[in-house]
Amino acid sequence: MADEPLVLGIETSCDETGVGIVRGTTLLADAVASSVEEHGRFGGVVPEIASRAHLEAMVPTVQRALDEAGIKASDLDGIAVTAGPGLAGALLVGVSAAKAYAYALGKPLYGVNHLASHICVDQLEHGRLPEPTMALLVSGGHSSLLLTEDITSDMRSLGATIDDAAGEAFDKVARLLNLGFPGGPVIDRYAKEGDPAAIAFPRGLTGSKDPAYDFSFSGLKTAVARWVEAKRRAGEDVPIRDVAASFQEAVTDVLTRKAVRACKDNGVDHLMIGGGVAANSRLRAMAQERCDRAGITLRVPRPKLCTDNGAMVAALGAEMVRRDRAPSALGLSADSSLPVTETHVPADHDALHRHAEHG
Ligand code: KG4
Ligand code: ZN
Repeated sequence: MADEPLVLGIETSCDETGVGIVRGTTLLADAVASSVEEHGRFGGVVPEIASRAHLEAMVPTVQRALDEAGIKASDLDGIAVTAGPGLAGALLVGVSAAKAYAYALGKPLYGVNHLASHICVDQLEHGRLPEPTMALLVSGGHSSLLLTEDITSDMRSLGATIDDAAGEAFDKVARLLNLGFPGGPVIDRYAKEGDPAAIAFPRGLTGSKDPAYDFSFSGLKTAVARWVEAKRRAGEDVPIRDVAASFQEAVTDVLTRKAVRACKDNGVDHLMIGGGVAANSRLRAMAQERCDRAGITLRVPRPKLCTDNGAMVAALGAEMVRRDRAPSALGLSADSSLPVTETHVPADHDALHRHAEHG
């Protein structure tokens, strides 16, 4: 195990300043500082506030991670950082910090993809990912089904949301129920005391002619808004617990149904669920039931590793080192819309792009 790469990962794509340290697939430290409370009253993440908070939290959070892991920075084999996708200004703070540490310590730098990191983090809990693995990635900004042949270099997108992301739907529905931000955890809590069959909310894109692996949650959000509005207009109490449970049931039903179908259609017998929404208790339970029935092995990291953190970035960085992937240049740029298929940004990335553009 001592031969496995020791990597520090920095995550600043949204409102969490995460610094994790891993050795291969072993988690040594997972330090997170969140600015979520500063955004609550705005009902969503305010990019400028997030960037400033990252700047203030960065050095102390790195120090906390090093202390927790009980290692010296000079022991590291590499520094990994989220290069995208995410909020441009927020990413920039992490990328700048990672470059500074890499340069000062003389260690290779790995700019990695946030979404691939959400998948790779499961290695810290359940060991190396089988190849191929089907990944259902569900976060505040993304909902995708990804056929993962190699987490460091080969991910194929089978489908994605055509409108709202799953987490975004949770956040919007929580807002219209006046439950605050972020919406996922609070809806999860209320739903536990509600009836998931109380209201028949629509299941988007599940018709026989609809694309099999794409998602749509904006119609569901509108249906919930209309239902709640009608109750309010009639002067009746809104049964928040039943609305939360029925909404959550609709989301998890569609996500798990399509994920299991993607596994079956592609002959893949491992399903991994990652991203903040993978912390959802109903999604985890329903996925387990349906995978058991279909003979699919389900892998979902513990909830703390599902939401944004630095350990997931370190986990992917360590895999990059282990597989001898090219490090990034010290001139690495953050890319707020880095495509999910670009698992990392190697040093020749810019040259490759220039080459492609000029034919
Ligand atoms: O992956 P993440 O931490 O950040 C992004 O990369 O977007 O995901 C955040 C999203 C938010 O929309 C939040 O409401 C949702 O994950 N979330 C949940 C739960 N915990 C977090 N959604 C449903 N149930 C949860 N328990
Ligand atoms: Zn995320």
